[in-house]
Amino acid sequence: MQTIIEPFRIKMTEALPITTRKLRQARLASAKYNVFLLNAEDITIDLLTDSGTGAMSSRQWAALMIGDESYAGSISWQHFERTVREITGLKHIFPVHQGRAAERILAATRLKPGDLVPNNSHFDTTRANIEYVGAQAEDLLTEEGKDLYLDKPFKGNLDTAKLELLIKARGAKRIPFCMITVTNNTGGGQPVSMTNIAAAKKVLKKYGIPLVIDCCRFAENAYFIKEYEPGYSGKPLTQIAQEMFALADGAVMSAKKDGLANIGGFFACNNDAWAEDFRNLLILTEGFPTYGGLAGRDLEVIAVGLKEALEYDYQHYRHATVEYMASRLIGRGIPIVRPAGGHAVFLDAAGFCSHLPPEKYPGIGLVNALYLEGGVRAVELGSVMFGRVDAKTGKETPAPRELVRLAFPRRVYTQSHFEYVIEVLDDIWKHRERIPGYQITKQAPFLRHFTAHFAPGKDKTTKRGGKR
Ligand code: F0G
Repeated sequence: MQTIIEPFRIKMTEALPITTRKLRQARLASAKYNVFLLNAEDITIDLLTDSGTGAMSSRQWAALMIGDESYAGSISWQHFERTVREITGLKHIFPVHQGRAAERILAATRLKPGDLVPNNSHFDTTRANIEYVGAQAEDLLTEEGKDLYLDKPFKGNLDTAKLELLIKARGAKRIPFCMITVTNNTGGGQPVSMTNIAAAKKVLKKYGIPLVIDCCRFAENAYFIKEYEPGYSGKPLTQIAQEMFALADGAVMSAKKDGLANIGGFFACNNDAWAEDFRNLLILTEGFPTYGGLAGRDLEVIAVGLKEALEYDYQHYRHATVEYMASRLIGRGIPIVRPAGGHAVFLDAAGFCSHLPPEKYPGIGLVNALYLEGGVRAVELGSVMFGRVDAKTGKETPAPRELVRLAFPRRVYTQSHFEYVIEVLDDIWKHRERIPGYQITKQAPFLRHFTAHFAPGKDKTTKRGGKR
């Protein structure tokens, strides 16, 4: 069979808001041209994130009903712990309310000002949590990974030669741990190979530096390894994941991705002293260590979701949907990061809006055009999210890339929804020179993309008067 079908059928539906361009124009202006500030009821297709936006399976809904809400040592906690241990093999496991809670406690307990944490590419919250305690977050993506259009597998790999140079330059003592993010969200959802993780681990071991895997999308990464890395095609995804975690000393997880849950996460590690420090701060800020800020039913849902994410048929279908969108866009000449990522299609906003310099935030231009044209919400991963602002002078250094991410919520949208998004993008692409630039009129000192206010340059797109 040629057609890869959704390996599920739909039991419950949720109405999608269908809006007019006039309404969208008004809503976008009220939201200060920042789609994070829109109300969900004004969005038709929401590709803002794949985080916590997935649909639960009937097995998860059933599990939710048997959630044990005991404050300490609940049955649901035991189910959660057993499952996480089976997959990761790590000794200490702590639930948290979401990934950044694990990042925050890890940074607070292990880092001092002047320390440094390498990663293939830090996600924005990971970087912010490291910088918040006065440490430095360093991205060490391979040169291959930086080339947006190079069609090669494993462009999420960490540059191990650069890692060793950095360790020698800074001294191992200033590097309390190294991270690897699978898949590499910031760099296009690109996977990391097992060979690369093993090579990084070898370098780190030599200098006594622990490896912490940011494993939000570990099951999608395992699928890429199975499909594209020699020697893995015959192995089940669970075994591949186990092999990967065997190389790690710790893991931070947002279960809102490959936990197929709407909330939750965990931290896991082997080191007893790390666990002790983590546990103490967890109790202070999240909750008792057997619930960590989650309800017992959430723990049940995650335990089931982690297993479902490792089912081959599910991953096969999921990757097919991303690839379908990517191939259609490439066919129309629309510039996207290649190859397709695991959880999203990343548009190259600099290539798309070649008339806009980084200071005019082409990513915001494209994100807002998507909303105005079709009620589609996407997210900028460019100079607004990753640009550096000098605290003293206010001078801005643009990000190395201007990307816009169309993230795919898990098990939520069907092929016709994606056809619609392709059509919307095609329309925008044909009139791309009309996309206006933007300026920031208000911003927070960190993670500014969430709350910033923007003002458009002369908005030529409004003259088109589309009826959609
Ligand atoms: N690490 C990575 C690689 C992520 O993609 C995210 C979240 C986190 C850590 C933090 O997890 O949201 O549960 O606190 N990414 C979401 C996204 C927000 O849209 O990509 P969290």
